Amino acid sequence: MLRPVVQYPNPLLAKKSEPVAEINDEIRALAQDMLDTLKTVGGVGIAAPQIGVLKRVVIIDVSLEKDDPEAPQDFRVFINPVVTVIDPKLSEENEGCLSVPELRSKVKRPRRVALEGLDLDGNTVRIEGEGYFSACMQHETDHLDGKLFIDHISYLKRSMYDKKMKKAR
Ligand code: NI
Repeated sequence: MLRPVVQYPNPLLAKKSEPVAEINDEIRALAQDMLDTLKTVGGVGIAAPQIGVLKRVVIIDVSLEKDDPEAPQDFRVFINPVVTVIDPKLSEENEGCLSVPELRSKVKRPRRVALEGLDLDGNTVRIEGEGYFSACMQHETDHLDGKLFIDHISYLKRSMYDKKMKKAR
């Protein structure tokens, strides 16, 4: 079911999400709603807080690993995801977010990371990659700790954006 995407500066986006204790029908329905919403609005990833649920669940397009814009999207669910930095050297990717309208910005993050979590059957799944894929893994997991990509940009850029959004409201 398509759910409305929570938009910045809704304070829900700054909250920490709870770990999933059991993969039950509620979690399966949540993952389905996240997938339906992501497919409808378009994007490469979504985190549960973005549809208003403070649970540690993300969906990531793992086709990004191929670094080929022609590759068909391949959305995977990760429950209680944990990011591990493999190469801390920073790289800069152009990020945007379904919850942060009208802004894209370069963000510096560790170049290569791994992400490990559970799938909907409770199996451990691990992915690893760099560049834009690495940024995406970190971006989605950040949401579960109440962090947005605009928390990583310069103070000046951030205050310009906040000003613009205040005017628009
Ligand atoms: Ni986002």
